[in-house]
This record gives sequence, C-alpha cells and structure tokens, in this order.
Amino acid sequence: MSKPTVAAIVAMDEGRVIGKDGALPWHLPEDLAYFKAQTSGHFVIMGRKTWNSLPPKFRPLPGRVNIVVSRNPDALELPEGTFGARSVEEALAIAERAAKPEQKVWFIGGAELYAGALSLCDELHLTLVHGHHAGDATFPRFEDRFERVSSEKGERCTFQVYRVIESLRSLERREERSRRDVQ
Ligand SMILES: NC(=O)c1ccc[n+]([C@@H]2O[C@H](COP(=O)([O-])OP(=O)(O)OC[C@H]3O[C@@H](n4cnc5c(N)ncnc54)[C@H](OP(=O)(O)O)[C@@H]3O)[C@@H](O)[C@H]2O)c1
Repeated sequence: MSKPTVAAIVAMDEGRVIGKDGALPWHLPEDLAYFKAQTSGHFVIMGRKTWNSLPPKFRPLPGRVNIVVSRNPDALELPEGTFGARSVEEALAIAERAAKPEQKVWFIGGAELYAGALSLCDELHLTLVHGHHAGDATFPRFEDRFERVSSEKGERCTFQVYRVIESLRSLERREERSRRDVQ
C-alpha cells in the first residue's frame, strides 16, 4: 500500500518567528485561507500547546482529522474523533493507517513539534510573512533538507513550497530498506 504524502505547513517571518505568547504574532486572512485550503479533508498533527491555542470554535479544526501530540496524551480531554499520540512517530503511524490514498498528513506546529517532525516530511509549505515581528517561538532550520520548488507573492506574505532534496530521500529509502532487511 502506498504511503500518504507527509508535509509540514508553517507561517514564518523574515526573522524565523512563528509565535508569540502562545498565539500567532499576526492576523493574516490570506494565510488562514491558504492553510484551510491546503489542509481541509486531510490529517493534521499538532503539539499540545498549539491544540490549546485554537479558539474553541475551531477545536478540533473542522473537516480534518485532528491528532494531538503530548508526552501524556491520556491527560488530554479530547473530543470524539480527535486522537492523542505520545510522539510524532506514533501520530504519523495513526494517520498513515487511516489515510485514504488521496489524503495527506500535515504537521501544523508549533515550534517543538516541527523540530521533531521535519525529518519525517517530504514537503514543506512555508508562508514567508514579510517583515520582522516580536515573538518567542521560531521555526527550526530546514534549508539543509528541502529545496524550493515554487514561490507566489501575496499581499503581506509569499507562499513557498519546498520538497525534500531527492538525494537525501533516496538515501533515507535505502536506509529504511536495509533496516527492514535486518529485522
Ligand atoms: N506560525 C505558524 O504557522 C504556527 C503554527 C502552529 C503554532 N504556532 C505557534 O507556535 C507556538 C506554540 O509552539 P510550542 O513549541 O510552544 O508548542 P507546540 O509544539 O505546539 O506544543 C508543545 C507540546 O506538544 C507536545 N510535543 C511537541 N513535540 C513533541 C514530541 N516530539 N514528542 C512528544 N510530545 C511533543 C508536548 O506536550 P506535553 O507538554 O503535553 O507533553 C509539548 O509540550 C504558539 O505561539 C503557536 O501560536 C505557529
């Protein structure tokens, strides 16, 4: 069975800032619309703090299967249809088991979750927010793993898509195969 595409989606400013005081540092309707269009109908995996930061009306994010990562998922009081997972790997396994062929798996933040998940992603959708903002959460380095394949300028941000560098992906596939062979 083929595996779904695994992607991360983030809005980051020119100083790598993505969050402030547990919330987004900006209000960008064009980016919210992009996020909704990309993730609707798919699986979204988020850290416990990002889950808590969602307004009650959007928790769980409607029209998507929500998975929340926490080291103590049993303590989360999640609504029916929303899943808890102990690690990014466990969250991905839940999504991969349940995803239909046309569905994608999205890591949607925040900073700690991205740091653990980027090495599992084939794709990165990065909204580059123009300018610099005050903040306390930043996006980890991704430039060694991904190369940019498209860029489209919006009003206050630029929508960029990155794919994992193919030579890295081939190496990872070879390593995965040899791990399976020794098991
Ligand atoms: N600009 C954007 O696109 C964007 C997107 C999303 C979020 N944000 C912002 O990012 C900020 C939140 O980021 P954050 O780093 O503070 O929190 P976070 O990553 O949302 O959540 C952190 C929590 O998630 C769990 N977690 C994360 N990675 C884990 C792992 N590898 N294994 C097990 N558990 C893991 C832990 O939960 P427990 O403590 O329960 O164990 C951890 O304390 C907010 O300001 C939010 O608005 C920005």
